[in-house]
Amino acid sequence: MKVLGIETSCDETSAAVVEDGTRLLSNIVASQDALHAPYGGIVPELASRRHIETIHTIVNQALNEAHVDLSQIDGIAVTQGPGLIGSLIVGLSYAKALAYKHSLPCVGVNHLEAHLHAVFLEEAAPQHKLQFPFVGLLVSGGHTALYEVQGVGKTKLLATTQDDAAGEAFDKVAKLLGLGYPGGRQIDELSKKGNPNAFSFPIANLKHKEMGFSFSGLKTAVLNLTKQFGELSEETKADIAASFQEAVAKPLLTESLKALEKTKFNKLVVSGGVAANSRIRSLFLEECQKREIQIYFPSLSLCTDNAAMVAAVGYHLIGVTPQLNLSMSPFASSRL
Ligand code: KG4
Ligand code: ZN
Repeated sequence: MKVLGIETSCDETSAAVVEDGTRLLSNIVASQDALHAPYGGIVPELASRRHIETIHTIVNQALNEAHVDLSQIDGIAVTQGPGLIGSLIVGLSYAKALAYKHSLPCVGVNHLEAHLHAVFLEEAAPQHKLQFPFVGLLVSGGHTALYEVQGVGKTKLLATTQDDAAGEAFDKVAKLLGLGYPGGRQIDELSKKGNPNAFSFPIANLKHKEMGFSFSGLKTAVLNLTKQFGELSEETKADIAASFQEAVAKPLLTESLKALEKTKFNKLVVSGGVAANSRIRSLFLEECQKREIQIYFPSLSLCTDNAAMVAAVGYHLIGVTPQLNLSMSPFASSRL
């Protein structure tokens, strides 16, 4: 079964064709980074307008690269939320129109669930042998949360952030250090030249909560430190980046371990844009190996927003859950 996936929840316009929920035939991602970089963050109105301009081309590219036309597609899966409403509406409207025209089933997919299932697309990798249940750590620009994942549509929230998402903290700190937008990748690169023990940043103490995250205090601590320095040398910037990165990675690990203990699972999936971070990957690998926990990461290109992960979840929903009502407003949701 071939599913066309469409993703426009934030600032990436993406379309993909996935066969049988796991085989990636194409996955086109058009980044809007250059458009938003001058503003140091995503401008929602610009994002939706750019989605409108590119979506048709991106969907056609995905079909061409997969060597299929719409007559060979069995269904359409589209991100229906959460995300920027103007951006979501472009993908949803486009998907519904296409489905209506070609008499195809069309299902709405939860973006967070899609991130958690991106690992199933790694056919040649050990991830392909992954079985439910597992603990999912979703760590992206908009979300930082732990889930108990029993299957598609069977995801239970265990803990979330009290304030900022980890990716947002990466982007804000990168801005403070003058590294540009989006900042996660730049901090990752710069940290390789820095000392992670140079500065001791606070790690939120959420004792009153069983599990959870908080990154706003860390962001403020970096701001206060940069003010003390005034002009920052390249060496100091690298030390701040590496120390900050460590202060994000550590609570992600400790809370994930708590979730594994609570659920008694021994499988952990780490997904979302921040899961592309090299230090987070190495720390998790090292600590999970010590504890004989099976750890799974999607490959780097499948960590960040993409339509293949949407198609992967959609495969399980087509024919099972109610379709998006093609004649109604895109806000009508089949499932969330
Ligand atoms: O999952 P994603 O593409 O979009 C959301 O759903 O939010 O995640 C984007 C986030 C951004 O904050 C970006 O800075 C961060 O992922 N990111 C990274 C890295 N690559 C992307 N953060 C840390 N290290 C990276 N290598
Ligand atoms: Zn995302």
